[in-house]
Amino acid sequence: MRKKIVAGNWKMNKTAEEAKALLSEVVNMIKDEITGEVEVVLCPPALYLTTFRQYVPTGGKISLGAQNCHEKASGAYTGEISAPMLQSIGVEYVILGHSERRQYFGETNAQLAEKVNIVLEHGLKPIFCCGESRDLRENGDYLGFVKDQITESLFHLSAEQFANVVIAYEPIWAIGTGLTATSGQAQDMHFELRQHIAGQYGDTVAQDTTILYGGSANEKNAAELFAQPDVDGGLIGGASLKSREFTNVVKARQ
Ligand code: G3P
Repeated sequence: MRKKIVAGNWKMNKTAEEAKALLSEVVNMIKDEITGEVEVVLCPPALYLTTFRQYVPTGGKISLGAQNCHEKASGAYTGEISAPMLQSIGVEYVILGHSERRQYFGETNAQLAEKVNIVLEHGLKPIFCCGESRDLRENGDYLGFVKDQITESLFHLSAEQFANVVIAYEPIWAIGTGLTATSGQAQDMHFELRQHIAGQYGDTVAQDTTILYGGSANEKNAAELFAQPDVDGGLIGGASLKSREFTNVVKARQ
């Protein structure tokens, strides 16, 4: 089902004390200030998810997400975290295919298809990231590249399985750079991705798909981005580390 979602990807930031302080501020601000229909997803470092679950009841305005998980259910994969582990502590979402994981850890579309499968098998919802580099945006078939990411990692799913997937379009050249895609660029890509999904699963599934924008989204540009008909919300990095700014982004979506 298509939803308004604002997810905060904290990436590798905050000590335990800092994380608890930020969580407390965000929970209180969301409780006091957000009255509309918007789902907030907090994605702290995995280390903190168990503690966060104690402070964030399931079924409320705020859900919890992991920033990744392994494609196997268990085994000799030192340092990794599995979908069953995340399910066992009540996590709802898992970010998959973030460009930083594709860049630094060599994640491929085929590997991500396996990660999507195991996340869905364990009742979790993937936030599947896609997006092109600056070079491709300026000199190549960036639309075809992003469509291929969706095709190769998601289009093996049934329509019922796909209904649980959230898409996050994150142009790599906008991540952490302060160079946000214009609302027109975001809308154009989101529209094309929705059309691509319609080609595979039909219009109903495509219209029910939640497509988030990520890449230097903040309190100043969120309202214009979220006003676009095919932008359903945001996947927020740097701005999610500041409680007031993150809450203002959520306000812009409600
Ligand atoms: O996953 C969201 C992230 O990649 C966006 O980062 O700092 O540009 O909002 P930022």
